[in-house]
Amino acid sequence: MARTIAPALRVRAHAKINISLRVVGRRADGYHELRTVFQSLALHDTVIVEPARGPFRLSVSDPSIPGDESNIVWRAAESMWRAAGRRGRPSGVRIHIAKHLPAGGGLAGGSTDAAAALRALAQIWGAPRGGALLEDVARELGADVPYFLYGGTALGLDRGDRIVPLPDLPARWVVLGMPGFGVSTAEAFDWFDRRAAPRGSGPPARIAGVDGAAAEVINDLEAAVAARHPEIGRLEQLLLGCGASAAAMTGSGSTVFGLFATERAAERAAAHIGAEFPARVSRFLDRSRFTRASRPMPARGLPETVRIG
Ligand code: C5P
Repeated sequence: MARTIAPALRVRAHAKINISLRVVGRRADGYHELRTVFQSLALHDTVIVEPARGPFRLSVSDPSIPGDESNIVWRAAESMWRAAGRRGRPSGVRIHIAKHLPAGGGLAGGSTDAAAALRALAQIWGAPRGGALLEDVARELGADVPYFLYGGTALGLDRGDRIVPLPDLPARWVVLGMPGFGVSTAEAFDWFDRRAAPRGSGPPARIAGVDGAAAEVINDLEAAVAARHPEIGRLEQLLLGCGASAAAMTGSGSTVFGLFATERAAERAAAHIGAEFPARVSRFLDRSRFTRASRPMPARGLPETVRIG
């Protein structure tokens, strides 16, 4: 039997926050029409894709996250296998996810892992065939996945899955307050639909962008989620009290972010908030750094080559 030697690949799967998330309508397919500004963060999971004999396998460093068909990375592997024109079930690869991002936290931990896996598998199995694009495969997996093929600062339209790259926002330090529970995206949109009356949350904070343009910091889902989880409002107040120039929930929660001009101010705020909630410090990752950092690379510290039959 012919034997191939293929390298194990390591891909960084960076987190995102939604600088703003506006719900602008309801779609016939039940989804919500969004206008959201995504921003990549330096904080990341690491996805290792390793050629191996036998059927596809998935493992996750965090035992609370299942490494089975319910994991979006498993579905990414099945989609990519088909898109590359192969038949049957995926095989010849195993994937390991070294998890640092919380599940259900609004940082798109699952979606970014899926996009990272797609990038590596496209190298190993070949690009999508039959006119399909990697972006089409990404879109089918979830509304947040296509953004991770771009990174940096980007506008998400339609379901949040039509991506228009924007000029990078100026660098900021970010404090992430993590209340420790996950929020289901479907449930958050449902709470939003059933809210009593649209509640005015005051004028949104703005962060100066480039060319005089400014980005709003506001999340239309926040009031509905915070009504069920008071920790969200508490975290936002703590962050603003610590000097954040703006703070908001990201995605459907539960993570709340605050923006700071300096690392020192961010570290001080994280230490203060840490008395009540787990808190992490990260920073914006611009598009060129994102592109470099999330490219599949030969995995160091692993056997560089694995024989496959
Ligand atoms: O596409 P994704 O799996 O991320 O979405 C999860 C759920 O969130 C959807 O089934 C839908 O109920 C809701 N959603 C929505 N509008 C969006 C994105 C997600 O209603 N734009």
